Amino acid sequence: MESRLSHYVSKMIRCNWNIFLDFRCCSGEVTKNMLLSHCRNLTKIIAVDVQPAFVDFAKETFGHERIEYMGLDITEKMNTKPAQYCSNRPGNVLECIDSRLSHYVSKMTGSNWDVVLDFGCGPGDVTKNILLSHCPNVTKIIAVDVQSALVDFAKETFGHERIEYMVLDITEKTPSQWSKMFDKVFAFLSFHYVRDVRKFLNILHDILKPGGYFLSIGIASAPAFSVWLEMSLKEEWKQYFIGIEKYIPVTHVLKDYCNGFKKLAKECGFVPIAVTSSLESVIFDSEKQFIDFHESVLPEEIVKQIPLENFDKFLDDYRKAFQKYEVTYNTDGTFAVQHTVLEICLQFENTTS
Ligand SMILES: C[S@@+](CC[C@H](N)C(=O)[O-])C[C@H]1O[C@@H](n2cnc3c(N)ncnc32)[C@H](O)[C@@H]1O
Repeated sequence: MESRLSHYVSKMIRCNWNIFLDFRCCSGEVTKNMLLSHCRNLTKIIAVDVQPAFVDFAKETFGHERIEYMGLDITEKMNTKPAQYCSNRPGNVLECIDSRLSHYVSKMTGSNWDVVLDFGCGPGDVTKNILLSHCPNVTKIIAVDVQSALVDFAKETFGHERIEYMVLDITEKTPSQWSKMFDKVFAFLSFHYVRDVRKFLNILHDILKPGGYFLSIGIASAPAFSVWLEMSLKEEWKQYFIGIEKYIPVTHVLKDYCNGFKKLAKECGFVPIAVTSSLESVIFDSEKQFIDFHESVLPEEIVKQIPLENFDKFLDDYRKAFQKYEVTYNTDGTFAVQHTVLEICLQFENTTS
C-alpha cells in the first residue's frame, strides 16, 4: 500500500497539501503511520469513519496534532435542512402567521402571559422573531420539537434568554411538572403532524392553566401532500415513499373537518373560539426557492434513502408532478400555490370562574 501511495503522490502535481480528507479511516493506523509521512507540509488531515468505536480508538491510539478524527458517514446527505427551510420559506407565510397571531392575541382575554409553549418550533425563527414579539411580558417560552437537529439549530441561531428550546414529542408524554403550567400553547405549521387528536387535546388539557388558550395556525391541505402521494405510486420512487401516509394530515383528504373538530374540542373540555379553514396563496419568488423549500420540508426519512446520484432527477420529477396542481404564474416571474390554512383557537374552559 505504501509503494502505491508513493507512486500516486508523485503524480499529484497541480495541487496543494494543505488540508485533506481520509475517508473511512478505520483504526487510524494508516492515517498516522503512512498518510501523514507522505504529506509533510500539510496543515490538517480530517479522518472520518462511520463507526464511533473506530473513531475513539483512532483518537486514543493514533492521535496527532495535525489529524482530526470524527464520526461521520460522508455518503449521507448532510442535514442542512433547518437553514434551507428558513432561507427559502416564502415571506408571505411569515406575514400570514404574524397577522393571524395579532388577530387572535387580541381575543385571548382573561389569561396571563407568564409561561407559554411553542409546539413544533422547528428552526426557531418563528419562535424568536414572531411569537416573542407578540408576548412582550412573557417570563418564558418553552419551544419543543421532536427533531434534535432542528432544536440544536434553534438554540444556536435563534437563542434568547427567555426561550428554552428542547427536544420533545409532546404528543407522547409531557414532563409531570408541566401540569397546569402553561398560559398558552401555540402551534405554527405543526398541528397537521398530530395523528391522535383526542389524545393531543387531553394533553393540552393537562398542561394548560384553566382559562388558557391553544392557538394553531397551520396547513389543512397542500399540493405537496398530493405530490408525495403521487411520487409514492411512481415505479422509480415508490420504494423511498413507503409509509408516507403518516406524513399526510387527515385534513388533506377529509371534507368539513372543522365541525367535527369543534365537537371533539368541546367533548375534551374546550370552548372553540375559532375553527376555520381558508384558501391562501403561498408565493414563491423563483423556481429555485420553490424547489429548495420543498426539498427542506420533505420528511428526512425519505430524503435520506434517495441515492445522491439520483437526487437531481428526483427533484426534477417532483417539480413536474407539482405542475398540475393549483399553480398561478405571475408576470413578474413569481408564482402562487394555493394552500388551505386551518386556524384553531380554543380556550380551556375555566370551571372555577
Ligand atoms: C413545518 S415545521 C414548522 C416549524 C415552525 N413552527 C415554523 O413555523 O417554522 C413543523 C415542525 O413540527 C415538528 N413536530 C412534528 N411533530 C411533533 C411532535 N409530536 N412533537 C414536537 N414537534 C413536532 C416537526 O419536527 C417540525 O419541525
